[in-house]
Amino acid sequence: MSAAGPLPLVGRRVLVTGIANEASLALPIAQVLRASGAELVCAGLGPTPYHGALSTAAEQYLGGAREAFESTVREHLGADVPELIADVTLDPSLEDLAETLRLRDLQLDGIVHAVAMDRTIRGGAAKPLLQVTREEFLDCMSASAYSLLALVRVLLRAHVLREGASIVALSYLGAERVMSHPYRNIGVAKAALERLVRELAAELGPTFGMRVNAVRFSPWSRSKAGGAIPGLEEAVAHAASRAPLGNADPASLGCEVVHLLRPGLGVTGEVRHVDGGYHVHG
Ligand SMILES: NC(=O)c1ccc[n+]([C@@H]2O[C@H](COP(=O)([O-])OP(=O)(O)OC[C@H]3O[C@@H](n4cnc5c(N)ncnc54)[C@H](O)[C@@H]3O)[C@@H](O)[C@H]2O)c1
Repeated sequence: MSAAGPLPLVGRRVLVTGIANEASLALPIAQVLRASGAELVCAGLGPTPYHGALSTAAEQYLGGAREAFESTVREHLGADVPELIADVTLDPSLEDLAETLRLRDLQLDGIVHAVAMDRTIRGGAAKPLLQVTREEFLDCMSASAYSLLALVRVLLRAHVLREGASIVALSYLGAERVMSHPYRNIGVAKAALERLVRELAAELGPTFGMRVNAVRFSPWSRSKAGGAIPGLEEAVAHAASRAPLGNADPASLGCEVVHLLRPGLGVTGEVRHVDGGYHVHG
């Protein structure tokens, strides 16, 4: 990249969410961002004072999530990368995150939103939409879609998002289409996420010169979220055989995110595909 000119993200600080472990898509994205000159700050799931009384299982889950997040960042991105804990479904936790950034003078030029959660996909099965409860629907929306809005709002209020910042959210073709594998409740949330991307682009552009885009990536069954979706491995193989270029790899995803985070790019409210061209098929 340096042979082609200066690194595109030198002097830009980017908040990367959604690193759970080595198989998370957010990790290769962060690695490409860093190779492109960006300074990183990572936010991951873990216990917070706002979770209230938790069952032992929930405590263990959140403690494990924190440990895996922190060790992944340390091992693959370096001990100098700030690791902050936040639950994106809890406003006070997001406020803590923003306040920590403010106190540490970590002004941001970019955000990567790579967070999704759907409780109706469990133990290798996914509920038909007609069986999804209101609570399950709203939980999925809260973590996977509303979290983008909530995160941007707290960062703006704390004055840690610089003018001209660029925001990128990860999405999937299942936001628009009924897929061969079950992508039901989460598909509705991804549709909301993409709609939020467009609305935020319209609001944040004129006021703050900020850009907001989404990237739909190929199916990826190695991550925790992807691996939980029944039939995703078969979908990966099917997409690989149909996509004009085969499935995209996470490094290509990282390159597109770098492109969207470049200062001065006149692109906003866009939903891009990094899927080897799979989406061209009917
Ligand atoms: N795996 C795929 O096939 C695929 C394809 C296209 C897009 N995506 C999207 O990429 C993003 C990353 O997914 P992934 O496949 O790398 O899986 P992943 O499981 O590694 O990442 C999901 C992340 O969401 C985080 N998260 C969930 N609830 C949270 C909460 N309340 N607070 C804070 N963090 C929370 C998890 O800790 C995890 O880091 C998601 O938005 C996903 O929808 C995935």
